[in-house]
Amino acid sequence: MFDTVIKGGTIYSPEGIFVGDIGITGETIQEINEGGNLEGTTIIDATGKCVFPGFIDPHVHIHLPFMGTNAIDDHASATKAALVGGTTTIIEMICPGPDDEPADAFAEWKTLAEEGACSDYSFHLAVVRFDDIAKKQLRELVSNEGVQSFKIFLAYKGALDIGDENLFELMQLCVELGVVLTAHCENAEAIDLMQKKLLAEGKTGPEWHEPSRPICVEADGVNHLCAFAELTGASIYIVHTSCGIAIDRAIEARSRGVDVTVEAVAPHLVLDKTYAERADFEGAKFVMSPPLRDKVEHDALWNGLASGAVSTIGTDHAPFSFREQKTMGTDAFTLIPNGIPSIQERIDLVHTFGVCTGKIDLQTMVDTCSSNVAKNFSMYPRKGALAVGSDADVVVYDTEFVGIFKHEDGLSNIDYSGFEGLERRGRADTVLLRGKIVAEQGMFVGRAGAGNYISR
Ligand code: URP
Ligand code: ZN
Ligand code: ZN
Repeated sequence: MFDTVIKGGTIYSPEGIFVGDIGITGETIQEINEGGNLEGTTIIDATGKCVFPGFIDPHVHIHLPFMGTNAIDDHASATKAALVGGTTTIIEMICPGPDDEPADAFAEWKTLAEEGACSDYSFHLAVVRFDDIAKKQLRELVSNEGVQSFKIFLAYKGALDIGDENLFELMQLCVELGVVLTAHCENAEAIDLMQKKLLAEGKTGPEWHEPSRPICVEADGVNHLCAFAELTGASIYIVHTSCGIAIDRAIEARSRGVDVTVEAVAPHLVLDKTYAERADFEGAKFVMSPPLRDKVEHDALWNGLASGAVSTIGTDHAPFSFREQKTMGTDAFTLIPNGIPSIQERIDLVHTFGVCTGKIDLQTMVDTCSSNVAKNFSMYPRKGALAVGSDADVVVYDTEFVGIFKHEDGLSNIDYSGFEGLERRGRADTVLLRGKIVAEQGMFVGRAGAGNYISR
């Protein structure tokens, strides 16, 4: 007799896809039975539904001091939203300022997450400062705290970007420590020059954000990062890739032997640059970096996911309120805090716009939104798999659900939805985190602070 049995669903396991039962005791999957005859104290009827491993978001910002303000979610609000949408583990970016010590930043972010997180969580640690103190602390955080990935920004000149000398040495350190280097790839200098040019021409609205950092600027950033990885042998992970030529640059590097992984994020897969051109400053809701692109880039991303060129789908959840925060940039698009939140919507967006349109299949959705993330970031098979011994993070998913994306359904603190009014197909019916039901049909039923830190 198990504590909980999930009965009769179509199970997506590493062994294959089949109808059966999952038996859970405590926090762990104890048995998976094709056909199904397991007995449990609690029974979750999954007949007619899909049963997926808990989804993992590889790219989330919650505590984010950025562009003169701070993102509006806290760990409780963001992870409630994540869980309701089927995401049971997040990897948050720790983004300290250039004067902050990495150890202090890690402690600050971890304390906030311990207090509030309802889902499990891990961290990528951004390297903005790289002096001797920082280098020593980075080593200690890897060996003592299970940090397994760093983050760098090639963009955001003068705020978060890291020079080439530091980039080279940091990559050498990553090789020595066995750490993956995740990177925001855009040429910071080119953006700075374009922003100044456009503003001088009186082009101040949100619609000028994309022209200030077109696809060649992103491709250049990817190429630059790949060249340094080729020189140093570092394993790199390119976050929020928005366009075909950026993917091409990464794939060319891969063919030369560079260990490069490419991430897409939900907004780039669904929204295009016309959203940022909306009148009356509404376009500001859709300002993120890299920017929303031309519609043709959607196909490049979906094709990349289908072929394996692109391995993961995250959100880059970075919520700034429209009314109070996005309006900081009414006089200049360069002052609009960058970000389009989607932590709650990610899986349903991928299902609606990727699976239901035939661009990818459900197995690819599971791989890119869960298993591949766990594999890339040293959590597999504890996370990212329905397998005996894995954490019982399970999503019973209703592929037949039909609805509309609405801000009023959101649990994030954000005051708008970038996906308002779009058709929605699919919903996480029941979500379990380490054996406990935490969300049911759009309602959060878990507990703030119940999330665990995943040391990797
Ligand atoms: O627009 C974005 N992406 N905001 C969050 C910060 C970052 O660059 O990831
Ligand atoms: Zn970024
Ligand atoms: Zn980001």
